[in-house]
Amino acid sequence: MQAAARAQPNIALIKYWGKRDAALNLPAVGSISITLDALVTDVDIAFDEAFADDELGVNGEPREDLLPRMAGCLDSVAGPGRPRARIVSTSNFPIGAGLASSASAFAAATVAAAAAAGADLTTAALARLAGRASGSAARSLYGGFVELANAGDGIVVESMLTAADWPLEVIVAITDSSPKPVSSGDAMERSRRTSPFYSRWVDDQAHDLDVARTAIAARDFEALADVAEHNCLKMHSVMWTSRPSIVYWNAATLDCLAAVRTLRGKGTGVFFTVDAGPQVKAVCLPEDATRVRDAFESIDGVAETLRSGLGPGARLRDPE
Ligand code: DP6
Repeated sequence: MQAAARAQPNIALIKYWGKRDAALNLPAVGSISITLDALVTDVDIAFDEAFADDELGVNGEPREDLLPRMAGCLDSVAGPGRPRARIVSTSNFPIGAGLASSASAFAAATVAAAAAAGADLTTAALARLAGRASGSAARSLYGGFVELANAGDGIVVESMLTAADWPLEVIVAITDSSPKPVSSGDAMERSRRTSPFYSRWVDDQAHDLDVARTAIAARDFEALADVAEHNCLKMHSVMWTSRPSIVYWNAATLDCLAAVRTLRGKGTGVFFTVDAGPQVKAVCLPEDATRVRDAFESIDGVAETLRSGLGPGARLRDPE
C-alpha cells in the first residue's frame, strides 16, 4: 500500500484570508490562483499495519512538529482507522517561508494517500480533502488558473484556464527564507477576531473575484494586474490592523514593490503579489520576465530569485 505524487505550489491573485469554519477549515472568501511549474513537492506515502507509528520526513529530516497536521490529512483521506504511515516529502524550494509549501505538500499528500489507500476519488473530491488540511492546497489539485468558490457548506474548485491558455511567468524575490513568525492559519484567526477591516475585506471579495474572472477570460493583463495588486494590499492591510499586528514584510519587500511599480509605469507587463511572508511574487508577461528578474537581483536584500512558468495540477508519479 504505497503511492507517490507530485504537486506544485500555487500563488493566489485574489487571496484567501480568514475562515468561516475553523474546524472544517472552510475559507471565509473565494480565491483565484495560478499554479506554478518550477517549484515542486514530491510526497511518497506507504501504509503498513506493521508500522508502530506515523513517521514524517521533510527534505531528509524527521519532522515530528509537522506530523500531527500531516496525520490529520491522511486520516481525512484514508479514514482514522488507517494503518500507520511513512511519509517522505521533498521540496526544491524553502518551506514555511511564504512560498506556499503547505499547498503543494498537502495537495501531493492527498493524492498519494488516496492512491495508497486504494480510494478512487475525483479531482474535485481530492481538492475538498486537501482543502481541509490547508485551504490553499485545494487549488494545487488543478493547473493553470484556478478558482476556489464557497458553495453551501463546502467549496468548489475549478480550472479557469490551463497553463498553455495564458502562459504567464512568475519571478519570486526571496528576501528572507527563515520560517514565518506566525502561521497563516493563526494569523487569519487573529485578523478575523481583531481587525476592524476584516468584515469589509470579506464583503468586497465577490467584487474582486468578478473583476479577476472577467480579466482572465479576456486575457486582459492590465485589468488583472490592477485588481490583484489591490486585493493583495487589502489583505495585508487587514493583517497590519490586527492586534497584535501581523507584518510579514521587510525593507527588501518594499523595495521590490517599488521596483515593480516603476517597471509597470514604464510599460513593462508585471504586477506584484505577496503572501504570508516577505517574498515578493511578480507575475509577468513572458517577454518581460528577464527584465523583472534583473531588477529584483539588483536590490539589496534580495537573496535569490526563482523563475517559473505556470504548471499542472497534482498527480501521481512513479515512487522513488
Ligand atoms: C496568504 O492555505 O496556508 O497564502 O488553510 O490555514 O492552511 P490554512 O492557510 P493557507 O493560507 C494561505 C494564505 C495566503 C493567501 C492564499 O494563498 O490565498
